[in-house]
Amino acid sequence: MCGIVGYIGPKDAYPILIKGLHRLEYRGYDSAGVSLINQSGSLVVYKAKGKVAALEAAAEEKDISGTIGIAHTRWATHGEPNTTNAHPHYSQSHSLSLVHNGIIENYKTLRTELEKNGMTFQSETDTEVLVQLIEYLQTTHHCDLITAVHLALKNVIGAYAIAILDKRNPNQLIAARKGSPLVIGVGKGNETAAPGEAEFFLGSDATPIIEYTNQVIYLQDEEIALLNRNGKQLITNLESVQQTPQLVTLQMNLDELEKGGYAHFMLKEIFEQPNAIRNCLRGRIDRDTLSIKLKGVDESKDRLLTARRIIICACGTSWHAALIGKYFIEEAAKIPVDVEYASEFRYRNPVIDKDDVVIAISQSGETADTLAAIQLAQSHGCFVYGICNVVGSSIARATDSGTFIHVGPEIGVASTKAFTGQLVSLIMFGLALAKEKKTLSETLYHEIINDLTLIPEKMQQTLDNSKGIEQFAKIFTYCKNCIYLGRGYNYPVALEGALKLKEISYIHAEGYPAAEMKHGPIALVDEEMPVVVIAPRRGMYEKIVSNIQEIKSRNGRILSIVTEGDTQVKNMSDFCIEVPDTRDSFAPLLSVIPLQLLSYHIAVAKGRNVDQPRNLAKSVTVE
Ligand code: G6P
Repeated sequence: MCGIVGYIGPKDAYPILIKGLHRLEYRGYDSAGVSLINQSGSLVVYKAKGKVAALEAAAEEKDISGTIGIAHTRWATHGEPNTTNAHPHYSQSHSLSLVHNGIIENYKTLRTELEKNGMTFQSETDTEVLVQLIEYLQTTHHCDLITAVHLALKNVIGAYAIAILDKRNPNQLIAARKGSPLVIGVGKGNETAAPGEAEFFLGSDATPIIEYTNQVIYLQDEEIALLNRNGKQLITNLESVQQTPQLVTLQMNLDELEKGGYAHFMLKEIFEQPNAIRNCLRGRIDRDTLSIKLKGVDESKDRLLTARRIIICACGTSWHAALIGKYFIEEAAKIPVDVEYASEFRYRNPVIDKDDVVIAISQSGETADTLAAIQLAQSHGCFVYGICNVVGSSIARATDSGTFIHVGPEIGVASTKAFTGQLVSLIMFGLALAKEKKTLSETLYHEIINDLTLIPEKMQQTLDNSKGIEQFAKIFTYCKNCIYLGRGYNYPVALEGALKLKEISYIHAEGYPAAEMKHGPIALVDEEMPVVVIAPRRGMYEKIVSNIQEIKSRNGRILSIVTEGDTQVKNMSDFCIEVPDTRDSFAPLLSVIPLQLLSYHIAVAKGRNVDQPRNLAKSVTVE
């Protein structure tokens, strides 16, 4: 939530900041703003309600010169999304400007104190308190800015990633973080750089930086960075003790951040799934011996094999992946698995044993609730295994071991390829454990792995089979409600299908285990209510056929996802999409694809902003 970009160096800052904001727009798009120290030494702030494009329009006639700046794209928490509440915020004297991602929980107390001392506020945000506090402390303590930042952050409760400009010192950029991510890019400068002149970038993730440098430092919690034009970078903790940062080489590819000819990132990401899953499997499946090699499991065998139970914590789509993971791990490795919403788990005093293993699943690796669930589990002595997409993310760093899903950057707010990558990672995890625990026969183990190697090709066939969806999606555009049904492994797919529809088309949808229909939702069924049924041939096929019958006899309209060659369900359906046959436990990897496409085409037909649906953000760094 909220994206931060920063730059100091020899180049013009504004284009770098704007491009960076576009890359981070998935994190929030309520408003955008930029602050620069321009050529004449003025500290300027330009902001606009809405997207980065609105900011560009607002800054069109303005002085956008300057080689140092900070910028922000907002997902509103405190204060409605308007220009006044947009970041950057000035300090009272307009000497400082600041951008912030996170929530300052004690902002009301701090604001009251500052107001008593004569400070006046322009916005309703928690962020403005920070910049005012820093200025107030600098004035009253007669200290330099970095000391005032240390003092201020010691008084703050909450989460923050911040970047600060000081008009009086155009040669330095200050940044700090706790709980919200911040990456520093160490650049190479250019031919206009004076001897010894360095350049630094800031980003909430590496996407605004990769174009210029692949050398980054992931700022750690409670670290404050002072980045100087002369190349000096000083990183200290809140106690002002100097830290030794680790320079990391990014493995990201710039092409992965472009739409590559697709109308939307979401569509591109849906179509990337066959390759994304190939990348996820690469180096982990030995095709000759048909065995799995997961470094994360190998390294932590002792803790994993003695686990009394596994608790999977996640949010959103990752939580749906967790439900499918539970079914698979229990079936293959015979370990009890509980699945928890991270936001519930962290606050409900759960019974946690030190011998439990917690798996945290997160695409972004930054979800605040999942991070807090990890901390809770670790405080009980649990071993925490992470399944993340973003390398270097907070969750990837906080967990004791883990697996990266390696599906490449996911930019569309609605998660697609990360979901299937998470499923494949959970399947590999379950298989690796099953092998060690000898809970599967050798033959079955090899058979399952062989089936897994066939999934990318079958995903491609599924995409090829799904061409007709665009046509009948138009018919669904007019519905107000929709029910998704599945059983066994496909019940969480029903939840995920319904979530996708809600997220991007704003049509109300519910996912249910098909047999639960009779306990309430069937009352909703009439000729206006489409019912999407996931009914592959394996699993509880006959049972679901009966469920479809029940809906048909109440005039419900059926859209079914069936196995290639199926006639029974197909004949009962108004619309039908075929997916290739696979084992029951792998069906979600295929059956979810038509549901992703269905939501996508409905949303497009309704003229929705598919990649940036209203009120949502891709990375939820506030609780
Ligand atoms: C947000 C995103 C979802 C995502 C969820 C969990 O709600 O819009 O797509 O599933 O956060 O995010 P995570 O990064 O932890 O998987």
